[in-house]
This record gives sequence, structure tokens and C-alpha cells, in this order.
Amino acid sequence: TYVIAEPCVDVLDKACIDECPVDCIYEGDRMLYIHPDECVDCGACEPVCPVEAIYYEDDTPDEWNKEPTNYTKANVDFFDELGSPGGASKVGKTSHDPQWIKDLPPQGE
Ligand code: F3S
Ligand code: F3S
Repeated sequence: TYVIAEPCVDVLDKACIDECPVDCIYEGDRMLYIHPDECVDCGACEPVCPVEAIYYEDDTPDEWNKEPTNYTKANVDFFDELGSPGGASKVGKTSHDPQWIKDLPPQGE
């Protein structure tokens, strides 16, 4: 799967959404999250993010792949309650951001 990491927080550019053929990029309050089971690894989203927030899971920078800022895990935990809806557009924006992401200070200027 691909993972969205810290640069997306409070940016939410959403260019990635338009590229995904399976509509598996879901919107939270602070950032977007890729569904780890629904993503088919097409990779189309990765180059279009203007802040380079998207990585193939194995290429996610270490700082964003371990506690306390484990974005790989965040892209899993966001779906604890949502499960696998099979499409982000019908779900819309939800507030399932992991608590530590909700608690991040405002990012950017
Ligand atoms: Fe976020 Fe980049 Fe998509 S900022 S919403 S991952 S295009
Ligand atoms: Fe969609 Fe990106 Fe995966 S475009 S299928 S989330 S690699």
C-alpha cells in the first residue's frame, strides 16, 4: 500500500484524490488517509502531491514510520471504525483521525 505522511497535515491539497482509480483516499479533519486494503498500489497519486506527502510503504521516511509519528500506522488506524467502505466519495469527510494527529499543533504557516 501507499501511505500519506506528515506533509499532508493541514494542507489537504486533494490532488491525489483525482488520480486514484479505486477511490481509496479518505478525508479526515487534519489530513487524508489511504486505505491499506483498498489501495491497489497503482502509484498514480504519489507524483501529484505538491508537498510530497505520499510514499510507497517501504519507502516512507523513518521519522514517519515509527512512534510517536507513525503515519504508516495512522493510515491503518483511521479505518478502525470505518472498516472497508469500498469508496471514499460516498463516505465524505469524517473525524476518524487518530488522536495524536488531532492533537498535532497547526502545521505550516
Ligand atoms: Fe494531502 Fe498531497 Fe493528497 S497534500 S490531500 S496527500 S495531494
Ligand atoms: Fe490509489 Fe494511490 Fe493506491 S492512486 S490505488 S491510493 S497508490
